[in-house]
Amino acid sequence: NYPRHVRLVEVGPRDGLQNEAKPVPVQAKVALIDALSAAGHSAVEAGSFVSPKWVPQMANTDEVMTQIKRKPGVSYPVLVPNKQGMNGAIEAKCEEIAIFTAASEAFCRKNTNCSIDESFARFEPVMEAAQKHGMKVRGYVSTVIACPYDGKVAPAKVAEVSARLLRMGCYEVSLGDTIGVGTPGECVAMIDAVAEKVPREKLAAHFHDTYGQSLANILAVMERGIAVFDTAVAGLGGCPYAKGASGNVGTEDVIYLMNGLGIEHGVDLDAIAKAGREICVALGREPASKVAQALKAK
Ligand code: HMG
Ligand code: MG
Repeated sequence: NYPRHVRLVEVGPRDGLQNEAKPVPVQAKVALIDALSAAGHSAVEAGSFVSPKWVPQMANTDEVMTQIKRKPGVSYPVLVPNKQGMNGAIEAKCEEIAIFTAASEAFCRKNTNCSIDESFARFEPVMEAAQKHGMKVRGYVSTVIACPYDGKVAPAKVAEVSARLLRMGCYEVSLGDTIGVGTPGECVAMIDAVAEKVPREKLAAHFHDTYGQSLANILAVMERGIAVFDTAVAGLGGCPYAKGASGNVGTEDVIYLMNGLGIEHGVDLDAIAKAGREICVALGREPASKVAQALKAK
């Protein structure tokens, strides 16, 4: 009962790098993004227009956006939390943005210094500008399973916030298990609750692999009609405001899974693995992705 085709959204250059302590040079980010689009990705999240005091690593997103080779047919969304970030995105000629909020009040405050309601108030002028400039908007809901500060999150709350993002004009909502604690049963229950309020075709799953459950979760929610998955090359990453959370599910691992099931995704595994090795050399670390490790050992 799987889809024939899935869409992968590469979030490595943003979610994967935002937590790096040492500054990653613009050149290395540009090389990574260009390698990811060349490998066949149709969406590569390129950075964030957020406060450099909060997330210093994303401070050079404007330069990144001017230096990447924009491949026709590929979107390069950037995270935007408020009007100020939107101004940056417009100036950098971004064609797609992502707005982000949470299903838990405590995480929303730690991450963006405001309540969930206030985050929506900040999105209003952002959506207005997006419409004016013909920009597509993706929405994110964080802490869809549990919050690092408030514990378990009610699926009904995730549904409510997701529906609100779609009503505002997002074309899709990505559901983030920010701290990677969810297991397949919980993820399916959450998806089914959200699907009562919004169509499944408008949902994406964004799993972090802290407890090693991501692939199992992907398989489980794919059986429930989800066909868009956020992944990070080499399994890079972690959220700066979710201590201890590890990277997103590795792009290599998801490709390997999909290839094994004969599900189309359009991305070349070897090219992704090479891009992953190169950024890992630049960062001075080993890839977290098991498939990347296995391919490297061959
Ligand atoms: P604030 O302090 O409440 O904002 O932060 P403010 O409006 O009061 O402004 C304070 C200062 O920030 C001012 O500068 C503003 O100019 C500046 P100062 O006068 O002090 O020098 N400022 C900005 N600068 C650049 N770009 C901006 C901007 N806005 C204000 N857009 C704010 C509110 C949202 C800005 C802050 O909390 C912030 O930047 N947070 C970063 C959050 C973030 O990027 N988190 C990681 C991404 S989300 C994530 O990883 C989860 C996800 O992967 C899904 C999942 O896994 O769950 C998507
Ligand atoms: Mg994330």
